[in-house]
Amino acid sequence: MRIDILTLFPGMFPGYLNESILKRAQEAGLVEFHLHNIRDYATGKHRVTDEPPFGGGGGMILKPGPIFRAVEAIKPADEACPVILLTPQGRPFTQTVAQELAQQERLILICGRYEGVDERVRQHLVTDEISIGDYVLTGGELAALVVVDAVTRLLPGALGAAGAAETDSYATGLLEGPHYTKPADFRGWQVPDVVRSGHAANLARWRREGALRRTWERRPDLLETAVLSEADKRFLQSLAEE
Ligand SMILES: C[S@@+](CC[C@H](N)C(=O)[O-])C[C@H]1O[C@@H](n2cnc3c(N)ncnc32)[C@H](O)[C@@H]1O
Repeated sequence: MRIDILTLFPGMFPGYLNESILKRAQEAGLVEFHLHNIRDYATGKHRVTDEPPFGGGGGMILKPGPIFRAVEAIKPADEACPVILLTPQGRPFTQTVAQELAQQERLILICGRYEGVDERVRQHLVTDEISIGDYVLTGGELAALVVVDAVTRLLPGALGAAGAAETDSYATGLLEGPHYTKPADFRGWQVPDVVRSGHAANLARWRREGALRRTWERRPDLLETAVLSEADKRFLQSLAEE
């Protein structure tokens, strides 16, 4: 997969992209990141990328020209790949959206700044708009990194432990249950016997029930769409009766 990121601040990215799993995914040839400075596509002596809004109102708006030229320079006209604007007005970013984007060969992410981008970018250039949450950041760079991170870890082979992403919260439709590691006794708090028993079937059921319990306690809305077995339903019923 290739991910192109258009930003006024490319220097914000290398620290995050070149560590840990994202670094290893690049080294393994699973993903390429290409940073593009929107200012490089601005014209004139001062390479202006933003202007005050027509009609006043305060703040600055990213001009359409540099953003259109940047996308047109990096994407052949006949290549149909998602061109995504990060914006608090976009569709909410979820694990399902991350899975959808992870199927693509290429993504182009546009980071807004200031008061946002000229409306014609939305109307005539981008194919998708994504929000990472109901709050307003100063720029789209952190939002782009959130998308890049969540998508990259879903690429086959990106995570060390095979299948780890498949049991993550949301991937199964549930929150993930508790985890334990050594020591078995920490300040008198014990790891449950079933976790240490090595009994695969009992452990699998314990994990499933842990996920169901956690979801029931914290995100009961997810249970409305999760795929549940008869045993799951009985367990949830027992929780409700507790
Ligand atoms: C200060 S915000 C502009 C907000 C805009 N005036 C509005 O009310 O919708 C500047 C840029 O940050 C990015 N941004 C801010 N919050 C975001 C969010 N929740 N999700 C994705 N991008 C966000 C967008 O790229 C946006 O253009």
